[in-house]
Amino acid sequence: MPEPDPTCSRVIVISGGTDGMGRALALARAGRGDTVVALGSNLDKGRRLLADADKSSVAGRVEFIRVDLSSVGQTRAAIGEIIARHDVIDALVLFANRQAPERTTTAEGFEQTFALYYLSRYILGYGLLSLLRRSEAGVIVNVAGVGMVKGKIHWDDLQLENDYGMVAAQLQAGRANDLLGVAFAEQPDNPVRYVLYHPGFTRSGDLSPLPAVLRASLSVAARLAARPIAESIAPIHEFIDTPPSAPLTAIDRGKPVPLTLRTLDPANARHLAEATSSLLETVDRARP
Ligand SMILES: NC(=O)c1ccc[n+]([C@@H]2O[C@H](COP(=O)([O-])OP(=O)(O)OC[C@H]3O[C@@H](n4cnc5c(N)ncnc54)[C@H](OP(=O)(O)O)[C@@H]3O)[C@@H](O)[C@H]2O)c1
Repeated sequence: MPEPDPTCSRVIVISGGTDGMGRALALARAGRGDTVVALGSNLDKGRRLLADADKSSVAGRVEFIRVDLSSVGQTRAAIGEIIARHDVIDALVLFANRQAPERTTTAEGFEQTFALYYLSRYILGYGLLSLLRRSEAGVIVNVAGVGMVKGKIHWDDLQLENDYGMVAAQLQAGRANDLLGVAFAEQPDNPVRYVLYHPGFTRSGDLSPLPAVLRASLSVAARLAARPIAESIAPIHEFIDTPPSAPLTAIDRGKPVPLTLRTLDPANARHLAEATSSLLETVDRARP
């Protein structure tokens, strides 16, 4: 491993940094001399990450915060912990996601996939913005499915109470993340760059929540057709080391996605940002 250059070391927060692509990025960035804060809900996975960092002699450069990112309260508490420990963040990379075959709701009343895959990314991005602004080249990389036009935002039923499906929930949250990037990049006077990144089918992903038959067929498909993790995360290193000059960049498996794509519509982005802000106000009002 090349000796890290301490003059270039960055602070990087990785949501879902304990498994799959996020974990690989965490260890790779620590190996390059960065300080990484990995967020995940599973204590054993967090411990394994720290042990592996130790084995690679980068122990002091990896921090783990155990947090259930489907909880607004816990996500905000994690932000508080990060702010207490760090003055500046150079990159926030968003990976956390999990399939939910059945509709479940969080303690705050949100549909699980909406809360984890979309809402946590909204809260982390805006909640850490003040620290990202202090970086010379702050960037957020939202790893989801930009470029896909499948799925939709169910404007009248964001929590999918009427017609839940695991795929519909994933696609809705994916399209919501597309719009999150658009709204974030529209903020005036904002030096922090936003990158929407679709990694393509990758040899990662926790299949344990899925039914056995689907799990087996996805495992076979992954062995035959999925990209190695290192290949999928390679462009993320570039986004972190040299953030794009444009406020918003969208990349689908190496190809730029035109920002005129209908899934990146600015009016829809504003509409979703307003709806999300109202939902979070209801959480605040319900607090004792
Ligand atoms: N793999 C693919 O083929 C593919 C293709 C396109 C897009 N993507 C997107 O790329 C991203 C990363 O995928 P991946 O394959 O690397 O996923 P993964 O291996 O399943 O890792 C998911 C990460 O999210 C964390 N996580 C899950 N639920 C959480 C919760 N409630 N609170 C906190 N952390 C939680 C997990 O940690 P804990 O278990 O510790 O909670 C883990 O670190 C996802 O957004 C996915 O949709 C993946």
